[in-house]
Amino acid sequence: LESGCLSIVVLGASGDLAKKKTFPALFNLFRQGFLQANEVHIFGYARTKISDDELRDRIRGYLSQGKGASVEHSDELSKFLQLIKYVSGSYDSGDGFTLLNKEISEHELSKNSQSGTSRRLFYLALPPSVYPSVCKMIRNYCMNQSDLTGWTRIVVEKPFGKDLSSAEELSTQLGELFDEQQIYRIDHYLGKELVQNLLVLRFANRLFLPLWNRDNIDNVQIVFREDFGTEGRGGYFDEYGIIRDIIQNHLMQVLCLVAMEKPVSLKPEHIRDEKVKVLQSVLPISLEEVVLGQYEGYKDDPTVSNNSNTPTFATVVLHIHNERWEGVPFILKAGKALNSRKAEIRVQFKDVPGDIFKCKKQGRNEFVIRLQPSEAMYMKLTVKKPGLEMSTIQSELDLSYAQRYQGVTIPEAYERLILDTIRGDQQHFVRRDELKAAWEIFTPLLHKIDNGELKPLPYKPGSRGPGQADELLERAGYVQTHGY
Ligand code: BG6
Repeated sequence: LESGCLSIVVLGASGDLAKKKTFPALFNLFRQGFLQANEVHIFGYARTKISDDELRDRIRGYLSQGKGASVEHSDELSKFLQLIKYVSGSYDSGDGFTLLNKEISEHELSKNSQSGTSRRLFYLALPPSVYPSVCKMIRNYCMNQSDLTGWTRIVVEKPFGKDLSSAEELSTQLGELFDEQQIYRIDHYLGKELVQNLLVLRFANRLFLPLWNRDNIDNVQIVFREDFGTEGRGGYFDEYGIIRDIIQNHLMQVLCLVAMEKPVSLKPEHIRDEKVKVLQSVLPISLEEVVLGQYEGYKDDPTVSNNSNTPTFATVVLHIHNERWEGVPFILKAGKALNSRKAEIRVQFKDVPGDIFKCKKQGRNEFVIRLQPSEAMYMKLTVKKPGLEMSTIQSELDLSYAQRYQGVTIPEAYERLILDTIRGDQQHFVRRDELKAAWEIFTPLLHKIDNGELKPLPYKPGSRGPGQADELLERAGYVQTHGY
C-alpha cells in the first residue's frame, strides 16, 4: 500500500449498509494492519444529526454482537472507533460538503507534515437516486487539494439503474464528473473467495484447458438460493425483483468468469475486456426459456404493492454465441424464500460415448464450485464400487475449504473490495461497458415483466420454487445424478 494520509468518507453512515458491511470491513482491515492509525481518518457523513460518539456507539453495538463478534478485540475496537468522525449535512447542498472538506483538509494538514499526500475515498452507502447530486457535491467541494499528490476515488453500490437507458443515464452523469479510473462499482460477488478462484482454476490447471468447451460440457448452471424472503427490504425489492437484484449483476459476473477467454494478462483492463466480450456474445433471451415465480405471502409485506408482479424467483437460460460455447445452455437460477441458502456453479459434462459399463443412468461427470456456505469444489466421478463385483457408482473428489485450509480465515467480500479501492486495483469492479452489456441482455425481458406481459408463478416458501423451473432445467439438458 502507498503510504501517506488516507481519508475514507462513508456517505450514508447512519444507514444499514454502512453498519452491516462498510464499517465491519473497515474494522477488519484496521485489525490486520491495512489501515494505520497514524495515516487514516474515517469520516461518517449523513443527514441525521448525531454526535461522533453516537455514531461510534452504533458501530460498536453492531460489531460487538454480530457474527465473528469482536468482543475479544475490544481494545482494537476502541482504537478503531477513535479514528471515526461524524459530519452531518444534506446530500444536495454545499454547506455540509464544505464542512466535510474542511474536516478532511484539517486531517490532511495534521498528518501530512512529511509526506504531503491526499488520498480521498468516498464510499456511497446510499440509494442510487442521490448518486448524481452527491457526486457533484464531492466534485465541487471535496476533491483532493491540487498541491498535494494523491487521488480521489468514488465507490458505488448497485443497483446501477433499472434498465439499459436509466443505467446509461446514470453512467453518463457520473462520467461527466469522474474518470472511469476513479469510479469503483461494487458487485460484492466479485469479492468472494471462490469467485476470485475461477480464473486460477481455469487458466492455471492443464486439466481443465482442453475440457472447458462445447465439445465436453453439456450445460452450466449458476444458482443462487436464499432460505428467507425479503425481510424488511420489501419496498426496495418490489421495485427491482430478483433479476435486477441478483441475476443481472451477481450471477452474470460469475457467468463471465466461467465463460471468458484467457485474458492477455492479469491487468484489470485485460480481464474486463474479455468479460465484456462474453456479455456481448449472449443471444437475446427467449421467453420459452424463462420461468418466473413469486413466493406465497410475499404481498403480505405492507411495503409491497397488493398487485405486485415482481418475481422473487427466476430461471433463465442464456446462450453464448461463440466458438467455445455454441449449443451449451447457461442456466441462471435465483430465488428467495426457497428450501436452502446456497450459491453454486455446476458444470455438467457430456455422456461418455460407448458406455460399456452401462452406467449412464447413474449420472454424468459434474464439477461443482460452491461459493457459499462452506466453500468447496467437488467433482462427481463414476468409480468402481469397492468390493468383489464389477459394478459402478458415482462418487466425489472433494476439496472442502474448511477441512483443507484449517485455521485460514476467508475474508469477507467487502473487506477485499475496499482494500482494492485503496490500492487502486479495478480488477474486481464492474466497468461501464460491462454494465451496459449486462443491461442489454435483460432489459427486453424486464420490460415485459414490468408491463405485466409475463406473470410469476406462485410457489410455497421453503420449497424448490415453481416445478416448471425443474422442467426447464431438464429441457436444457441437465441430468440429475442418482445412486451416490
Ligand atoms: C445483495 C442482494 O446484493 O446480495 C440481496 O441485494 C441478497 O437481496 C444479497 O440477499 C446476497 O448476498 P450474499 O453474499 O449473502 O450471497
